[in-house]
Amino acid sequence: MTILSYFRCVRKRGRTMVPFVMLFYVAVILMFVQYNFYEVWNTSVASPIRDGHGQDAREIVFFISVCKGEADNRQGGKIASDIDRQLRQTAVLLKSAAALSSSVLRFKVVTDSEDLFHQITNLTSSWPADYQKRILMDYHKVWYPAERKDMRSMFRVCSTERLFIPEMFSDLDAGIYVDTDMLFLRPPEQLWEEFQKFNDVQLAALAPCLFHYDTNRNKLPYYGKTGLNAGVMLLNITRMKSFPEGGWMPALIKVFDRIKKKMKLADQDIINVLFSKYPELMYELGCEWNYRIFQCSKGTNKCPDAATNGISLLHGNALAFVSGEEMKIQAVFEAWERHVMGSSVSTLLTTLQQDLESVSTKHLPSKCARIRRRGGAWEAFTEGGRSVWDTAGSPPRRSVKGASITL
Ligand SMILES: *[C@@H]1O[C@H](CO)[C@@H](O)[C@H](O)[C@H]1NC(C)=O
Ligand SMILES: *[C@@H]1O[C@H](CO)[C@@H](O)[C@H](O)[C@H]1NC(C)=O
Repeated sequence: MTILSYFRCVRKRGRTMVPFVMLFYVAVILMFVQYNFYEVWNTSVASPIRDGHGQDAREIVFFISVCKGEADNRQGGKIASDIDRQLRQTAVLLKSAAALSSSVLRFKVVTDSEDLFHQITNLTSSWPADYQKRILMDYHKVWYPAERKDMRSMFRVCSTERLFIPEMFSDLDAGIYVDTDMLFLRPPEQLWEEFQKFNDVQLAALAPCLFHYDTNRNKLPYYGKTGLNAGVMLLNITRMKSFPEGGWMPALIKVFDRIKKKMKLADQDIINVLFSKYPELMYELGCEWNYRIFQCSKGTNKCPDAATNGISLLHGNALAFVSGEEMKIQAVFEAWERHVMGSSVSTLLTTLQQDLESVSTKHLPSKCARIRRRGGAWEAFTEGGRSVWDTAGSPPRRSVKGASITL
């Protein structure tokens, strides 16, 4: 309206040049806005590295999915607190990864909410610039196969997105999916190095489930002795394109149609059925790369490697980081949550050891505390830290594109 009346007013006065000058300015402003909009949405949001060598820096690629779910517009209550928990957990995941890493870590965030994505990128805003630079984040909208509406409605939003990563990111060679309720106790580079242990045909790596599949709650075929847990998945996307039965997507849709009535753990069940048929394509990760409450809450430590080498990646599933019921695990989460980025990680390790000890001395709720200290599980929480945390967290090291990552 104002522009039109301006035109009329100008024409009345007979000066025809002025509107064109003004239009020129409007166009410049629009171009500026559009350019910035493009910058925000189509490049990495959190402090992208823009120096001359930025493009050559070797990145470790992670996929995470965080969703608000159906009840997007509801206020307060259970859903809001669930989002708060997801954000707290994501903050700790990012912190532990960046603090122990000397590489550039790219997080591909699959989400149903742009707003949530901005909240996630903002989680690193208070970090020192040197640490912020190590985390790049990209926004990706949740995706389901268009012709398969039933898959979308059957699955819980987001948790099943992990199945579609090879399809969504078919231009990438490889990446690692992690649940957001995980935290690193070893540098993420060491997890990426597991790719190099694959033989010529292995195309994915998951850690054993050690619970559920070998019980009578499960009625489905599963991989190996105890099935696989889908909380962390190393995916060689290049190789997954030539998955038997026409590729990964056709194979998983076929399994979905066959077992949808018997599924209990949706995406994880599908993965287990697929790899029970093709076990030779799976590289089994050590249980220390996906240590969960069930591995210490049953009276023994079910993951012997964690007792000797320490836990590498701790998985707080079943709300173990926040429920107040398993304080050994929660203490690790809370120590990371309190950790101020940039301060010494060896101090964090000392604090953590004290916190874990006081779970026992103060008799805080914990089944994992019942395991004997020597060679037991609770020392395992800090064992990984002993050897590596002192040297971790040096500035990102650049290496030639395609070269392997070294610490
Ligand atoms: C971003 O994070 C800071 C704390 O680091 C907080 O004060 C601010 O409210 C956050 N902004 C948004 C939009 O979430
Ligand atoms: C994935 O597999 C391809 C084809 O075998 C290989 O060239 C590539 O190096 C592998 N990627 C990783 C990260 O191991």
